[in-house]
Amino acid sequence: MSLMGILDRVADVQSFDKVIEPARKAVNAALRPQAFKDLLHGTWLGHSLHPVLVQVPVGSWVSAGVLDAVPALRPAATVMIATGVTAAVPAALTGAADWSEQDAGVRRLGALHAVANVAALGLYVGSLAARRNGRGGLGRVLSYAGLGIATGSAAVGGHMSYAQASGASHAATAARALTTDWIDLGPLDDLPEGRPALRTGKGSSVAVPLAAVRRGARVDVFIGACSHLAGPLHEGRVEEVRGQECLVCPWHGSAFDLDDGSPRRGPAANPQEKLEVRMEAGRVMARLPGRNR
Ligand code: FES
Repeated sequence: MSLMGILDRVADVQSFDKVIEPARKAVNAALRPQAFKDLLHGTWLGHSLHPVLVQVPVGSWVSAGVLDAVPALRPAATVMIATGVTAAVPAALTGAADWSEQDAGVRRLGALHAVANVAALGLYVGSLAARRNGRGGLGRVLSYAGLGIATGSAAVGGHMSYAQASGASHAATAARALTTDWIDLGPLDDLPEGRPALRTGKGSSVAVPLAAVRRGARVDVFIGACSHLAGPLHEGRVEEVRGQECLVCPWHGSAFDLDDGSPRRGPAANPQEKLEVRMEAGRVMARLPGRNR
């Protein structure tokens, strides 16, 4: 069986949830208030913060591995290990925040990822202690073991991102299937006031759900699959969040600015794809703006 197949099997083991669910609740209780959690998600950045921050410990520890191979450079390796240990803390916090809002399969692999990272961190802390006590040989053994575990853990994290799409914008994925032509969404008068309604757009071979929000004569139209985990935005609500009128997802409460689709509250970090709108003889016409085409 391939490595990917093994990871997929792990993601299917439901008995892990007995441990994972209490851990998820504990993370949610610890990462409060919501503004702090949104800071960790990267909602303010419009991009997930976790993959940005993990560069520091990963880069530092890889560098330490190279420096340790050259005896004259080993003091610099110790500095890089200490840098990685310090940077691992904020990286872990951002990962925990994202993990707590994922679906079950991602949470199971995420738990494996976290356990491996804690093990790697422990080995690096042990390595620092050994080096400080003049036991450089042991320090190098521990740090190379930590590097091996951290590398395996990075592979698990990559599987979560790429195979399980845990950090992908599901709105951007849905938008790819949508035609670039103007789409007739029907009469303006058929749209309810102040709440989202489901409309469909023509895709290459499938109907793409859209969420249309009417406020008076104005209509805002978004891809209907939430950028976080593809929740149905047409089942959400309109609400003021941090001073902006937002479309709120019914699944995990992400709020997207009606003006431009930017996330105002997480867990979503990616913006929600918004369509251009024009009126034509009392009918609402919408199309994707001309980005990335
Ligand atoms: S699917 Fe999670 S907030 Fe929308």
